[in-house]
Amino acid sequence: MPVKKGAEVAPAKGKLGVLLVGLGAVSTTFIAGVEAVKQGLAEPIGSLTQMGTVRLGKRTDNRVPPIKDFVPLADLKDLVFGAWDIFPDSAYEAALHAGVLEKELIEKLKKPLQKVKPMRAVFEQSYVKRLNGTNVKKGKNKLDLANQLIDEIAEFKRKNRCDRLVMIWAASTEVFMKPHAVHRTMNSLEQAMRDNHKAIPPSMIYAYAALKSGIPFANGAPNLTVDVPALMDFAAKNGIAVCGKDFKTGQTLMKTILAPGLKSRMLGLHGWYSTNILGNRDGEVLDDPDSFKTKEESKLSVLEYILQPEVYPQLYKDFSHVVRINYYPPRGDNKEGWDNIDIFGWLGYPMQIKIDFLCRDSILAAPIVLDLALFLDLAQRTGLKGVQEWLSFYFKSPMTAPGLYPEHDIFIQLMKLKNTLRHLRGEDLITHLGLEYYD
Ligand SMILES: NC(=O)c1ccc[n+]([C@@H]2O[C@H](COP(=O)([O-])OP(=O)(O)OC[C@H]3O[C@@H](n4cnc5c(N)ncnc54)[C@H](O)[C@@H]3O)[C@@H](O)[C@H]2O)c1
Repeated sequence: MPVKKGAEVAPAKGKLGVLLVGLGAVSTTFIAGVEAVKQGLAEPIGSLTQMGTVRLGKRTDNRVPPIKDFVPLADLKDLVFGAWDIFPDSAYEAALHAGVLEKELIEKLKKPLQKVKPMRAVFEQSYVKRLNGTNVKKGKNKLDLANQLIDEIAEFKRKNRCDRLVMIWAASTEVFMKPHAVHRTMNSLEQAMRDNHKAIPPSMIYAYAALKSGIPFANGAPNLTVDVPALMDFAAKNGIAVCGKDFKTGQTLMKTILAPGLKSRMLGLHGWYSTNILGNRDGEVLDDPDSFKTKEESKLSVLEYILQPEVYPQLYKDFSHVVRINYYPPRGDNKEGWDNIDIFGWLGYPMQIKIDFLCRDSILAAPIVLDLALFLDLAQRTGLKGVQEWLSFYFKSPMTAPGLYPEHDIFIQLMKLKNTLRHLRGEDLITHLGLEYYD
């Protein structure tokens, strides 16, 4: 049953535990950022939950509350962080290693960051070939590892006196995997876990543990993870919110801003060539062709869906789309992404657009983690269950109900998100028709 307009939303009282799988560049930039904002050292730029507003009613009504006043979201001071990683470094050491934030800022946040010590990870090197760490769980099979996670989650909740939890995958990208027959039902999935079947990667074990613990799950990487029938059905039946995949930052963010604009003016596309240099651990992992394949699939689908070549063959049939990521250590987390876009206009005359985006990957990803934690918790308290399509805004490969194509256009995604919030609060949806102003 879909949630009714103006549905009851349980208040955000008590502490919200944010469980992060992976304590690398994104997670530490997120945790340090929240601590910095709490201490008044910086502003939460890039976070819709903290800085965004939502227009209500007519343009002449002047009702534009901040989103965080309009819907009951957890307060930053009520967030508690937990994490798993294959390296034993605390969030303080991991943040220094990631090299995203300035040392001076990290030192100011040393105390809260040192408190976040990663629990032992569920990890197998065959799924992330470029990594190897020691802080790893042992178990008699994959189901046993999942049960260890479930116990740890309960223990974390008790020890930190959390009222609610959410889990977010911000760990490395796993090798490319296709859905397998064992992913169909919970029974076949559990049997495969008992049999240590190779179709069950670590990310799926975390997702299983989250859902079995009744906590919402977001997938920040392009891995299959929770996007399989057994887990999606379980989430929908048990009233648990899930979303994914792959945080939309950097080049794909630019693509989903620009492509809808080109299409809106009926400008054609011959080709879009994207290349990146990236020197952080994520770049190193993506240097492995099997992990890159997972990322490539996620990045490539965006233009096809936005431009709809089957609807506009004269403009978008057979355009060429290439995406490259090159590991280049000197750049660290400060990626540089180049796009060469060959477009054509009136009478077929060609033009070119060049983008050189000197971006900071984790600076763009951290506010997404914050928003997802707060919105997933809202979804859970509201009774929204299964796939949260209104959170597509944050993902490169948005999860959808079976048979539905994903919405990639960032402006439609934002409208969907805000209309969902209006719907939850019993406000009229905004259609932008606007004829009433001229009556
Ligand atoms: N930064 C961005 O803009 C961005 C955008 C989209 C997606 N992502 C994805 O987010 C993820 C995190 O990115 P990052 O830059 O923080 O990478 P990172 O390499 O700095 O951090 C990932 C961490 O995950 C840990 N890890 C790997 N496998 C694990 C497991 N099974 N259990 C627990 N920990 C595990 C690694 O040890 C590492 O510390 C990557 O998958 C990346 O592709 C990042």
